[in-house]
Amino acid sequence: MNENKINVAFFDAKPYDIESFNFINIKYNFNIKYFKYHLTHDNIILARGYDVIVVFVNDTINAEMIGQLKEYGIRLIALRSSGFNNIDLRAALANIKVVRVPAYSPYAIAEHTVALMLSLNRKIHRAYYRTRDANFALNGLLGFDMNGKTAGIIGTGRIGKVLAKILSGFGMKVLLNDIFPDDKFAAGSGLEYVPLDTIYRESDIISLNCPLTKETGYMIDSRAISSMKRGVMLINTGRGKLIRTQDLIGGLKSGQIGSAGLDVYEEESQYFFEDLSDRILADDVLARLLTFNNVIITSHQGFFTREALHNIAETTLENIYDFFSGKKLENEVCFNCQN
Ligand code: NAI
Repeated sequence: MNENKINVAFFDAKPYDIESFNFINIKYNFNIKYFKYHLTHDNIILARGYDVIVVFVNDTINAEMIGQLKEYGIRLIALRSSGFNNIDLRAALANIKVVRVPAYSPYAIAEHTVALMLSLNRKIHRAYYRTRDANFALNGLLGFDMNGKTAGIIGTGRIGKVLAKILSGFGMKVLLNDIFPDDKFAAGSGLEYVPLDTIYRESDIISLNCPLTKETGYMIDSRAISSMKRGVMLINTGRGKLIRTQDLIGGLKSGQIGSAGLDVYEEESQYFFEDLSDRILADDVLARLLTFNNVIITSHQGFFTREALHNIAETTLENIYDFFSGKKLENEVCFNCQN
């Protein structure tokens, strides 16, 4: 610990995080200690004596942990993500401030969403292995023109809007859904907001770009799936728990779901971001998902571009600086603020 500096405990640190944060930290000169582990009940003592903790999407902080962090002297939780469903904000209220990085690159996630769509549609993941094995047959690789098809986007915030523009550029009919429709955006882009059941009924491709909340948790269950177009492509780059995975598996087995691209998974915290290739996969649901040749799973890599990493480091360290300089916290999240 360095008494003359702001001491930062950084959890779930990967080599690429350390590189981007050290680069930006030249400007701030915070004392950052990088821990490669997730923050959990068992290792929370590591935070003792620090001023700030920096955490990511799979560091879950419940009410009890908030109490402990407060006791250890933590004054700020700086999320280096846009989503904040992993923090008990009600418990943080009046105890510890929470800040996040609301927008580091909506392009990164929107473009990854499209990468999943194109790969699934044109079976690039299968073609790659075939040609390496000198199998140049096309049987089973038939795709469809995206031009003229209908895409439904659920959640039209920063990412959903970029996605809508890209898909419009493909000549797709794009349907929007949001609990807070942005009519100006819709009018400006010539698109329309429709109810959820219209998205389900009419879309050839559905993309989930809303946050995980009480309302959106398990929104894609067997009931929702049965109201979708048969053979629909479902893409989730939002949060794993938007989908009840067992119901998705049922939909895939019956053919109701034609293909699925998942950058997030409801039990991802034990697996994603780690190399577990020398172990046996213990999660039977994830293992089953991985057996489908019409499913592509990426391990929460939507955000993973050079530009996004740079912006994440810059905004996170600026958030910390603003807090300790008593400036207004532009990126605060709290239980009763609207951000
Ligand atoms: P945003 O906050 O700009 O937009 C979210 C939109 O979802 C808002 O317009 C909101 O009104 C809408 N929404 C909320 N509840 C809804 C509901 N019940 N039904 C329909 N729409 C609803 O967020 P942004 O930056 O576009 O990110 C969206 C989500 O993407 C994040 O919450 C996060 O979970 C996920 N994400 C995933 C990443 C990845 O690497 N895969 C990286 C960054 C974000």
